Amino acid sequence: MANKNSLTITDNRTGKSYEVPIEHDTIKAMDLRQIKVKDDDFGMMTYDPGFTNTASCKSKVTFIDGEKGILRYRGYPIEQIAEKSNYLETAYLLLFGELPTKKQYEEWEYNITHHTFVHENVKKFMDGYQYDAHPMGMLVSTVAAFSTLYPEAKNIDDPDTRLHQVHRLIGKMPTLAAYAYRHKMGFPYVYPDNNLSYTGNFLNMLFKMSEPKYEPNPVLERALDVLFILHADHEQNCSANAMRSIGSSNADPYVATAGAAAALYGPLHGGANEAVLRMLAEIGDVKKVPEYIKRVKAGDFRLMGFGHRVYKNYDPRAKIIKKMADEVFEVTGKNPLLDIALELERIALEDDFFVSRKLYPNVDFYSGLIYQAMKFPTDMFVVLFAIPRTSGWLAQWLEFLDGPDRRIARPRQIFLGEDSRDYVEIDKRK
Ligand code: ACO
Repeated sequence: MANKNSLTITDNRTGKSYEVPIEHDTIKAMDLRQIKVKDDDFGMMTYDPGFTNTASCKSKVTFIDGEKGILRYRGYPIEQIAEKSNYLETAYLLLFGELPTKKQYEEWEYNITHHTFVHENVKKFMDGYQYDAHPMGMLVSTVAAFSTLYPEAKNIDDPDTRLHQVHRLIGKMPTLAAYAYRHKMGFPYVYPDNNLSYTGNFLNMLFKMSEPKYEPNPVLERALDVLFILHADHEQNCSANAMRSIGSSNADPYVATAGAAAALYGPLHGGANEAVLRMLAEIGDVKKVPEYIKRVKAGDFRLMGFGHRVYKNYDPRAKIIKKMADEVFEVTGKNPLLDIALELERIALEDDFFVSRKLYPNVDFYSGLIYQAMKFPTDMFVVLFAIPRTSGWLAQWLEFLDGPDRRIARPRQIFLGEDSRDYVEIDKRK
């Protein structure tokens, strides 16, 4: 009798049976390779474009139960972290697995704060971009350029060197993001103010003008900090997968982060909140919502900020953001697009098209409204996502480097192209 913790597979082509071990409700894809019709066959593979049912790694960083709408960082529910923690502490938790002691936190905060300045050359990189360049394009390329400023980062197997780059990346991302924004606006760059909090200093570098000391509004500073917490990690999404995949070639963390940020840039991932705002502006009036929904159902386009590969329930981050929006709007005044968003959500959540497909608002549905009320231009939204996600990418990268399954990422393909054929001279081609 077969061991119960295994799967018996019968190949009906040959009548042969195979017993494959099960671990964590998963079988190893390589265990299928033994399944062959002829001895010289390559062996059975699985086909999973978009990785919808393939675990690419074992991880202890972030847990999501998409059916129940649960998100936890290192075991701590996102609701508790958002209420009680701050972004820097959350980054520490993601990276090192435990909440820091007071001493560890102070040291961590000191190290991040003392890596906020960037090389003066970076201003020259920024000045090279077109006046209307998208800030995310600037961020992606400038993070990659850090690889040239810190060549020692290639020494990825040295723990101290690694940690140094972690401090640099988390410390400098807000500075790069702010420089990209100031370049676009035609404003002078503002140096970091290390007496402010992580998000307070970011607001300073973005919005300081002639005042001698920038004083961030505490409600907006905290709101941005909570948004940073909510965006810090989200297990094996498109950009985390890019980070691990690029990191698997032993590339340095700057180019790996640039690659992850490029993955985030797309409108189906981190670019979605920008798309939500464009959509709300296009609808323009609450009265036009039913007509818009009709067109979504007809397949003309998707409802941006709705649906998620993993969440088949209300995204827990969207719930926290929706609540926080009221506090922000008390300071900034209500975003006029909010009523359109609320009506879209109300109708969609009652409509069978969305209910049957389990399409609920995701994190991006409300975050853009808050960013816009805080006076961020729409093309900065994805940049605001990349800053905190840097700690998640780095946590995924470190876990990969230290893990037992460290191998270069190299998927297989099912080749369906032409078989071998002879080269045809150009004058003989039809
Ligand atoms: N509007 C309308 N229909 C949708 C939407 C949507 N936003 N999302 C999915 N559907 C429909 C699909 O048309 C499909 O319907 P069908 O079965 O009749 O063909 C069904 O729901 C399943 O959709 P898939 O595309 O298979 O879902 P997938 O898991 O591949 O996509 C994704 C997930 C990309 C997030 C998708 O829901 C989407 O495009 N949403 C809009 C963009 C967005 O908000 N992205 C942000 C994601 S969160 C983040 O990255 C932070």
